[in-house]
Amino acid sequence: MTSLSSYALTLRGRDYSPLIVGGMGTNISTAELGLAVEKLGGISHLSDAMLMDVSDRLFGTRFTAAKAKRYAGLRDAADKSAELFDLDAVREATIRYISNVMSKTTGRGLMLINCMEKLTMNSGLDTLKTRLNAALDAGIDGITLSAGLHLSSFRLMSENKRFHDALLGIIVSSSRALNLFLRKSAATGRLPDYVVVEGPLAGGHLGFGMEDWKNHSLEAIVREVKAYLAEKSLSIPVIAAGGIFTGGDAARFMGEVGANGIQAATRFAVAEESGLTCAAKQAFFNSKPEDIEVNGLSPTGYPMRMLKSSPAIESDIRPNCEAYGYLLNHGECAYLKEWKLRHEAMSAGEPVPPKEKGCLCTHMRNYKVWTCGAMASRLRETSIQKEDGTWILPTAADVYEDYMESTGDEIRLPKAALEYLKAHQMNLKSEFVPHFVPHLLLGSSDKNSGVSAHAGS
Ligand SMILES: Cc1cc2nc3c(=O)[nH]c(=O)nc-3n(C[C@H](O)[C@H](O)[C@H](O)COP(=O)(O)O)c2cc1C
Repeated sequence: MTSLSSYALTLRGRDYSPLIVGGMGTNISTAELGLAVEKLGGISHLSDAMLMDVSDRLFGTRFTAAKAKRYAGLRDAADKSAELFDLDAVREATIRYISNVMSKTTGRGLMLINCMEKLTMNSGLDTLKTRLNAALDAGIDGITLSAGLHLSSFRLMSENKRFHDALLGIIVSSSRALNLFLRKSAATGRLPDYVVVEGPLAGGHLGFGMEDWKNHSLEAIVREVKAYLAEKSLSIPVIAAGGIFTGGDAARFMGEVGANGIQAATRFAVAEESGLTCAAKQAFFNSKPEDIEVNGLSPTGYPMRMLKSSPAIESDIRPNCEAYGYLLNHGECAYLKEWKLRHEAMSAGEPVPPKEKGCLCTHMRNYKVWTCGAMASRLRETSIQKEDGTWILPTAADVYEDYMESTGDEIRLPKAALEYLKAHQMNLKSEFVPHFVPHLLLGSSDKNSGVSAHAGS
């Protein structure tokens, strides 16, 4: 059987590993995660969501505090349209963060950044232009334009000296969206270097309607996009994303469906290097299919998939647009609006409207939105629980190597899990032993580690 390592993704004439780690905001796809994958020759994404706040945490800058102070007087204002981001600060935060990461890359793989365009930041075009150009100026290998894809994004970068040299990709969920983007960008004389096709099983925001996502399949959309590109005689690599859980799944998308690469995120979200909290990682591992939902919590209007136990779902936190405000659009945000209505009703002793939205800014930066792909409930097949019930986390390299080398329905256990099993074999309690551990106890072996798991066996 063929493994993913038998394939290459060719970008600008150079062959790369066909596995891309998807961008996960806010700072879930950390620099550490990206660098661990890039070192192995893989392609990884940083995320540019809330980079001012990320910079404050990493480098001790005070961008968020300065913004909060500047607009403190508007805390109770109904209209937040005056709360603008300082574009110099946005640029400085972006450049500081990206140059720091790029100074540590090896050149074996690629470091891209996911630019979530739905972060309107109360002045959509200005802030987007600043973010995109700062990323190019900081030396990022490439930018992937995601949720909220702005049709004029290429134009916003077209004056940049790296516009033709850096890789630029887009995420779409239909050939219709791709067609629109290509038509709008034609005047810049530049095509995307790759197209990520994100299907309905992905994590994060979905490019489908609230119920409509169930009517689509990644495989069908990849085939549709490939056919569209062939009809237009365009040779743009197509990357399949959303629900590709094993090396075997990945190889099938390459060999049978015709993808030129695959993008994965959920399995990397629980890696040691991911920014998620330990509690969230353990919740991902413990999840069952019925614990995951697609809901309308996000004020962006896009459906989002997450664990039903995400703390943000029940939270009624006061919006903090003065400090964050990344989703403000013309002074408004759906959560802000809903929160005000609810609290006015509470004060007036009137019936309180239902809570549907969540404060994505505060909760994403606090890792309280546990967004995940639909396959998160299979994470339990990828590691083992210790006797205290906690799951052993893989490293990014464990996950990367499993995707690259495993075939069929095989899943390789993380090295730390193998060591734990070796050290504790005699003490394992049967209820914590996943179904595949008997392979280990019986001494089956593989070329790397002595153990592999067979999902579903
Ligand atoms: C925790 C998490 C956060 C994500 N955040 C983003 C994001 O900020 N921007 C984006 O374009 N996609 C985001 N995604 C989608 C991934 O980049 C990726 O395309 C998709 O989840 C791949 O499917 P998989 O998770 O089944 O492997 C996120 C996914 C996860 C699991």
